[in-house]
Amino acid sequence: MFPRRLLHTLFVAALLSLPAAAPAQQLVNGYEPKWWKEAVVYQIYPRSFKDSNGDGIGDLPGITSKLDYLRKLGVNVIWLSPHFDSPNADNGYDIRDYRKVMKEFGTMADFDALLAGIKKRHMRLIIDLVVNHTSDENKWFVESRSSKTNPYRDFYIWRPGHTAADGTRTPPNNYPSYFSGSAWTLDPKTNEYYLHYFAVKQPDLNWENPKVREEVYSLMRFWLDKGVSGFRMDVIPLISKPTGMPDLTPEQLKSPPNAYANGPHLAEYLREMNREVLSKYDDMSVGEATGTTLAQTGSLVDDRRHELNMIFNFDAIKIGRSDFGPSQLGAWSLPELKAIYDAHATTLGKHDWDTVFLSNHDNPRIVSTFGDDSPAMRVSSAKLFETMILTLRGTPFLFEGDELGMTNYPFRKIEDYDDIAVKNAYKAEVESGKMSAAVFLAAQARVSRDNARTPMQWDSSPEAGFTTGNHPWLAVNPNYKQINAAEQESDPASVLNYTRALIRLRAHTQAFVYGDYEDLAPQDAHIYAYTRTLGDETYLVVENFSSSATSYTLPGGLKAGTLLLSDIPSSHEANTSTLNLSPWESRIYRQ
Ligand code: GLC
Ligand code: CA
Repeated sequence: MFPRRLLHTLFVAALLSLPAAAPAQQLVNGYEPKWWKEAVVYQIYPRSFKDSNGDGIGDLPGITSKLDYLRKLGVNVIWLSPHFDSPNADNGYDIRDYRKVMKEFGTMADFDALLAGIKKRHMRLIIDLVVNHTSDENKWFVESRSSKTNPYRDFYIWRPGHTAADGTRTPPNNYPSYFSGSAWTLDPKTNEYYLHYFAVKQPDLNWENPKVREEVYSLMRFWLDKGVSGFRMDVIPLISKPTGMPDLTPEQLKSPPNAYANGPHLAEYLREMNREVLSKYDDMSVGEATGTTLAQTGSLVDDRRHELNMIFNFDAIKIGRSDFGPSQLGAWSLPELKAIYDAHATTLGKHDWDTVFLSNHDNPRIVSTFGDDSPAMRVSSAKLFETMILTLRGTPFLFEGDELGMTNYPFRKIEDYDDIAVKNAYKAEVESGKMSAAVFLAAQARVSRDNARTPMQWDSSPEAGFTTGNHPWLAVNPNYKQINAAEQESDPASVLNYTRALIRLRAHTQAFVYGDYEDLAPQDAHIYAYTRTLGDETYLVVENFSSSATSYTLPGGLKAGTLLLSDIPSSHEANTSTLNLSPWESRIYRQ
């Protein structure tokens, strides 16, 4: 017999050691609810957002000064493109010191003030994790290249390459770089080649080395412990390299990203990262999934795998053009675009989560690429894409200036550009005589990443209110007097006010987050009509993808219900099956 006191003690001890009962997770339409599924994310390219000290370069205090603007827009997560110490070969995507703020952007105290300001307004911050490669000025690489026996040698990928009988050196394989030329550079100090999928100044880290992974996890903890809420992970499927790195076949050379991505150890690294870091915080992760097909998406984001929460799949944003090298904008049709979203809806299940986006700092402006940026159509077509992005399935990602309907810049000459991708491609294609300057420049003006990177247009004062100096690092779009935030603030029919209304609607309509999606007219060449349904609530979204007025009859005798929002303030058609839509008009109905 146990004495009573002992029994009591054993009983209490047993109670204490019971795991806290997990609250039964209430699924919504089969999905586990998460804050990042309900979020609207806004990407800031810090160089271009707001300059606080007149040096022509956007900075962290500049962003802090605009937090009320973002709060009022209604977004709740900010993704900040890299803010780390960098020599800026690729505007911060080449990191010299992961624990320091880029001096042009400010100080760590400025970062802390920004984060505090974001939290005070009940928003969250995610930062850019660029760990496929570093800058060649990162101390790891400085050490690594110094000798073959340096302890950091294996932090990067070094190979002797080939030496011909006459002593000529050639790279270890035929890998091309995303930024033109070979992905290998011979380093004279140790006479070996290092791998760089991107610029010569962006050597790839060797993830097979556990010390590299430990360093990455440690820097992730550093920022999470400061209070950031997660990461956008730059080119994350590239971290595991193909086994043995053989030459790409002629077939693979048509799309190198597919050959480079999703190497044999990717899942293992991501699970380790999740176990060691991500699972310990209330964070979100979104991977930039270059080279990843829709069919491969589940293997990165299925929540039973414990890898990433979401990825960016490029099928929609790159429709009609390639994801590699100097691309051209090819033809695409609305049925093709819809087929992409339809395929996402059927391929990704309740354990996966999607993203919706048509813009970021690597792509031209939405309205100029997918819509009609002529003065008569710009406002409506910009609103249509905001409608689409904020009502399709998946977490929406907006890029700075989308909410104003900012357009591409009228680039004319190579000197107008800043981007290393364009400059390298110009050397490789034009200076080598492969392509005429005229053809190259015409294509780049439509697709260049610099279209997205021109300064944010705040008001009609000189330099669009972006800087008080007169030398912005990249020219302001000359249309800033017509297109700017101040002007749109006071116009009830502006893209800005419409986007605010859309975000508000989404914020109190769970069907747009967790609801099922149905495309009502996949083959229609001009109309995108779909429903989002959650329980007994159905919403109908109808969008006219054309610069002419169109009359559209809903299929199967369906009638549009109550009009909740239209980009044309005078629209009033409701309770009818035939809709007369103005050019680029978009409407949302409750059924
Ligand atoms: C990603 C970034 C892009 C950068 C590249 C190399 O694609 O979004 O801006 O140039 O990675 O880091
Ligand atoms: Ca500045």
